[in-house]
Amino acid sequence: MKRYRAPPVAGSEITPESVYLQRRHFLRSLGLAAPLLASGCSRGEDGAPPAAAAEPSGKPLAAPRSERWTTGEELTSWNDATQYNNYYEFGTGKGDPARNAGRFKPQPWTVEVAGHAEVIGRFTLEDLLKPHALEERVYRHRCVEAWSMVIPWVGIPLGACLARFKPTSRAKYVAFTTVQRPAEMPGLAYPVLDWPYREALRMDEAMHPLSLLAVGLYGRELPNQNGAPLRLIVPWKYGFKGAKSIVRIEFWERQPVTSWNLAAPTEYGFYSNVNPAVDHPRWTQSSERRIAGNGGGLFARRIATQPFNGYAEDVASLYAGMDLRANF
Ligand code: MTE
Repeated sequence: MKRYRAPPVAGSEITPESVYLQRRHFLRSLGLAAPLLASGCSRGEDGAPPAAAAEPSGKPLAAPRSERWTTGEELTSWNDATQYNNYYEFGTGKGDPARNAGRFKPQPWTVEVAGHAEVIGRFTLEDLLKPHALEERVYRHRCVEAWSMVIPWVGIPLGACLARFKPTSRAKYVAFTTVQRPAEMPGLAYPVLDWPYREALRMDEAMHPLSLLAVGLYGRELPNQNGAPLRLIVPWKYGFKGAKSIVRIEFWERQPVTSWNLAAPTEYGFYSNVNPAVDHPRWTQSSERRIAGNGGGLFARRIATQPFNGYAEDVASLYAGMDLRANF
């Protein structure tokens, strides 16, 4: 089994946004925060980083590395990928998911499949994964907050999973709903988003060979904070499209409501394709802080962001003729 080095954890670097967040929580508690909801998936670290570097953990998974879907770029460390996370059900600070997800139980797991498909019902995780052997793919992982990582995910193509449900011709979109367990997820006590977390893709995006249903990273099962036991990875889109801990997959004819779009429609579009030419209203998307190699925080280097996160050759044709500024 491969070993991955674990350099020191990425530190806090966006303090002003955490101040913003606290103010927002306060105002919300007074029922005054509707306009401030626009802060969105953009709030930085508001918790201290873990004291010790995390050691790789979780059950090893046998998954050969894909030759087609990989990148020569330096990998992010296990430590940074598993200690610097966004998973608001466990808290809004980057260190909160790793700190607070210990009580969460990702086994056993079932997923409800519904909507415009010939095969619907409740499926176990093992059943969902059956159509395809696990493989490892190294993808760039670009958060809308303008940090990025390079992560070896383990999973199966999303399309292989969805095809077996035989979506009908009315299925134009597929929606993902994620788990909501207040007793195990302290972040759900705060109305940061309209829970449960929801995301969706257009059918052709979901069926694209790059879209991955991930169950692991670095050759091991996903840690809770990374979305155990299964999550979405859509590497040409901002990270928030990657719904964690999915419990429901539903085929829709209309474009589904998604959590971030609902929270702040002017900041988080339905498509959310990585696009250096379209800035977020409050910061540039033309560059990103690459958390890899020597850790993150202040030491992370800034690199230019590529259209579709570097996957333009593979996916640009999905959007032929569309105005990507209007459909951000
Ligand atoms: N899924 C759920 N259920 N809840 C969340 O808060 N955060 C999203 C996405 N999936 C989130 C989620 C955001 S904003 C990002 S950037 C990625 O997960 C982060 O994935 P990572 O922590 O594995 O890097």
